[in-house]
Amino acid sequence: MAVGIFDSGLGGLTVLDAVTKRLPDVPFVYFGDNLHAPYGVRDADDVYNLTTAATERLWEAGCDLVILACNTASAAALRRMQESWVPRDKRVLGVFVPLIEALTERRWGDNSPPREVAVKHVALFATPATVSSRAFQRELAFRAIGVDVEAQACGGVVDAIEDGDMILAEALVRSHVDALKRKMPTPEAAILGCTHYPLMQDIFQDALGPDVAVYSQANLVAESLADYLERHPDMLGSGTESLFLTTGDPAKVSQRATQFLRRRITFQPA
Ligand code: DGL
Repeated sequence: MAVGIFDSGLGGLTVLDAVTKRLPDVPFVYFGDNLHAPYGVRDADDVYNLTTAATERLWEAGCDLVILACNTASAAALRRMQESWVPRDKRVLGVFVPLIEALTERRWGDNSPPREVAVKHVALFATPATVSSRAFQRELAFRAIGVDVEAQACGGVVDAIEDGDMILAEALVRSHVDALKRKMPTPEAAILGCTHYPLMQDIFQDALGPDVAVYSQANLVAESLADYLERHPDMLGSGTESLFLTTGDPAKVSQRATQFLRRRITFQPA
């Protein structure tokens, strides 16, 4: 019984950390496509091809259920994968929906018509590919009316985090928040729509100010996965071992992962 967690690189570790804490008895196989990160500047076909290759590797590792802990892949590839590629006995799920359900005060599976919600002005921070897909706005429009979303494509932040240059990452986050505030001076809520960004959550909160509620995905995805596995225990695959796989340099990726999660993480070649 193992569940696959996929990201273009290190960002999905924020989700892995939360799901491991929420479901301590479930082995997780993490796949970081560090060699090809960032995905946020790639076109949709490219993201689709890389994401399907990684998902196949996770199936090989005994994971029948794979979580795309990557908004860019969820935005650019997930629907196409679900419609025409995922076999009947496997599942691939994304990370948008739990976050949007939280923002719109909905419980899982509440498919009632869109309605007014408390927040009216929402800032979305995501990669250029996620922003241009408009996937967040689409999912939000299914559930809420009257919400004004201002999106900021945060070029460069994922590269800086992958390179371990946290000073550059901080400077970029602050300048992206400034740019957003010029378009929307007083957002009530901010969505961190990239799984790398929770690694910079304190900086986002500081730059946005204490009155802005910052939503990030890790804990919401963990709750939603626990709920899903309770309803679909058959989707716990045959794998029994937790593993960390990377297409990048395992020593370098292990060192960064250990620094981010503050526990020893050892990646092996995918
Ligand atoms: N963590 C990925 C996401 O959530 C990063 C994308 C990238 O590689 O640019 O979008």
